[in-house]
Amino acid sequence: MDTDKTRIQSLIDKHQGLKKNLVAILLDIQESFNYLPPESLRQVAKALGMPLIDVLGVATFYRAFSLRPRGKHMCLVCLGTACHVRGAQKILEEIERKLDVPAGENTKDGQFTLETAACLGCCAIGPVVVVDGAYQGHATIRKVAPILDKYRKPKASGKRPKAAAKTATRKGGRAARKK
Ligand code: FES
Repeated sequence: MDTDKTRIQSLIDKHQGLKKNLVAILLDIQESFNYLPPESLRQVAKALGMPLIDVLGVATFYRAFSLRPRGKHMCLVCLGTACHVRGAQKILEEIERKLDVPAGENTKDGQFTLETAACLGCCAIGPVVVVDGAYQGHATIRKVAPILDKYRKPKASGKRPKAAAKTATRKGGRAARKK
């Protein structure tokens, strides 16, 4: 059994291979692989004794799941009415410019996936941008760069700041939301 199959099997076993735990199993696979590889769906269907079409139905129903590899960070921009009237479209365009990627795609370096949503259920703090589950309310174009910078991979430079070097030495360097 190859490594991926073994990993998937251990996640199925963690949930006793029960049909009622299908969503939990898929969530674990999504977290482990950052998406649901097609072979994982076949393996889950077989292990749970379910038709593949039913597993696929669940995998495509929830926003938490992706059938394509996702970037390391998920950036979600709400384009619902309340956010839209407060400038969400312009914020999305700024994020697309900064990340150099259109909505629905991954950045070339695999760091970000940019997605849009119809409403995230927190209209009062709109416009809303969510990165890795952290809600950034009252977003503005000027806030886009600082928001993204928090998640960007630091550029490699020859020197390390003193504090960071100290920490690294000490440690020795490690939503199912309905669509
Ligand atoms: S419209 Fe954006 S959170 Fe509701």
